[in-house]
Amino acid sequence: MQKIIILDFGSQTTQLIGRRVRETGTFCEILPYNRFPAEDPDIIGVILSGSPLSVYAPDAFHPDLSPIVGHYPVLGICYGAQLLSQTYGGVVASAGTREYGRAMLERIEGDCPLFKGITAPSQVWMSHGDSVTALPEGWRKVASTASVQYAAFESATAPVWGVQFHPEVEHSLQGRQLLENFVVGICGSRREWTHASFIDTTVAELKAQLGQDQVVLGLSGGVDSTVAAVLLNQAIGDRLHCIFVNHGLLRLHEFEDVLAMYHKLGLNVKGVDASERFYTDLAGVSDPERKRKIIGADFIKVFDEEASRIRNVKWLAQGTIYPDRIESLNITGKTIKSHHNVGGLPKTMQLQLCEPLKWLFKDEVREVGRRLGIPEELVGRHPFPGPGLAVRIMGEITPEKLQAVREADDIFIRGLREWGLYDKVWQAGAVLLLDKTVGVLGDERSFANAVALRAVTSIDAMTADWAALPYEFLRHISNEIINHVRGVNRVCYDISSKPPATIEWE
Ligand code: XMP
Repeated sequence: MQKIIILDFGSQTTQLIGRRVRETGTFCEILPYNRFPAEDPDIIGVILSGSPLSVYAPDAFHPDLSPIVGHYPVLGICYGAQLLSQTYGGVVASAGTREYGRAMLERIEGDCPLFKGITAPSQVWMSHGDSVTALPEGWRKVASTASVQYAAFESATAPVWGVQFHPEVEHSLQGRQLLENFVVGICGSRREWTHASFIDTTVAELKAQLGQDQVVLGLSGGVDSTVAAVLLNQAIGDRLHCIFVNHGLLRLHEFEDVLAMYHKLGLNVKGVDASERFYTDLAGVSDPERKRKIIGADFIKVFDEEASRIRNVKWLAQGTIYPDRIESLNITGKTIKSHHNVGGLPKTMQLQLCEPLKWLFKDEVREVGRRLGIPEELVGRHPFPGPGLAVRIMGEITPEKLQAVREADDIFIRGLREWGLYDKVWQAGAVLLLDKTVGVLGDERSFANAVALRAVTSIDAMTADWAALPYEFLRHISNEIINHVRGVNRVCYDISSKPPATIEWE
């Protein structure tokens, strides 16, 4: 299948470029800046991402562009554009201050295929400290803004384009068109990557790969494992054995409700209620990392016990998705591990791994799920941490605290749905704080727990912003929680972004 390669120079929006390319119906891979896979006949074009670095930084990334430029159409974005210009003899200079935010392309000059159908003035999003101040010989300016002369440029000798702005972000209002012009118009994408073709191809591949083998899969209630299970179910039916473990730290009624939905979807699933085992092992434990370790280890034991009851299992299927596997770079060019996993399985199980969603972004997983007929309630679910409410109860987990956080969470999540806000946030939940606070209840002084509400917007959970929920909504939820949840007399709203805070409190 045709593909675009996106070389990552460490920008926070690299994954967004990938998503936009996929939206054009074109497959793409995101690779570290120095791992260009020459010799791959499916490559039809290359995009160089932005970077937090300056091309002049002592540790800046300067890969050899000779296997790329002149061989494939190339689009450089921000740092990528500066790198192209600098490599071929142009000048890049520091603007002194960082330009961040909206800007207007004032003029688009000549007939440039990258700007087909785009008319000035066109709003774009800038985020840069350096700018190209002189182009390599024979290159030409295509567009400028009030403060950036070479906001877009092209080479006369090779299929190379550079844009100083970020077409991948929403605030670049015609950015989608620009990327489509590059991928389809310039690179010649046949738009082979569609959800329907993904389902057909994947089901056929799974049939061929798995033959008559038995496969085991852990369902979590989340969208990724559910979509993976339904795809596998289409391929091998009841030879897929799903296990849904209740660790006792799920949301209110979640185990029963989700299990019923799995049955409705026709999955061969076994629900295992191991709550007591987890509660016993967690008793008296307040350190967050110990809680996580205990839950991870118990989870594996329970899963292992159940899986070993199924005869002749050869494969372990997982709902791993593409962002879990992308090696993200930090500013030093080193790979940083970004995502959590609920442990691994014991080596003794000796199973082969099957990961049918490993090339999909989260929104693609959801779309594939919808096409497979999975109800919106499962497909549109917010992410939920593997250790569940354990990481939303500060300190030791007790039955009273668990009940309080569960009820507060339920009021909050139901409220988000009722007010039409659920789909506007990436993730939300209630956190039970450690210290009690003073309040008045009737004529009496109360001394009870405080709850913090957390709701964030995000594209991949690597960075997140607190969601600006309406005051009226927050007022309503606060009243509901304080009036109905025993042991809670105060509600706060968490207004911290990630970084420096994280989404979860523990
Ligand atoms: P943080 O708190 O690191 O969370 O900003 C990022 C995303 O990961 C989820 N999360 C976890 N998921 N096991 C998981 O499976 C964990 O231990 C864990 N901790 C955080 C979190 O809910 C958010 O979506």
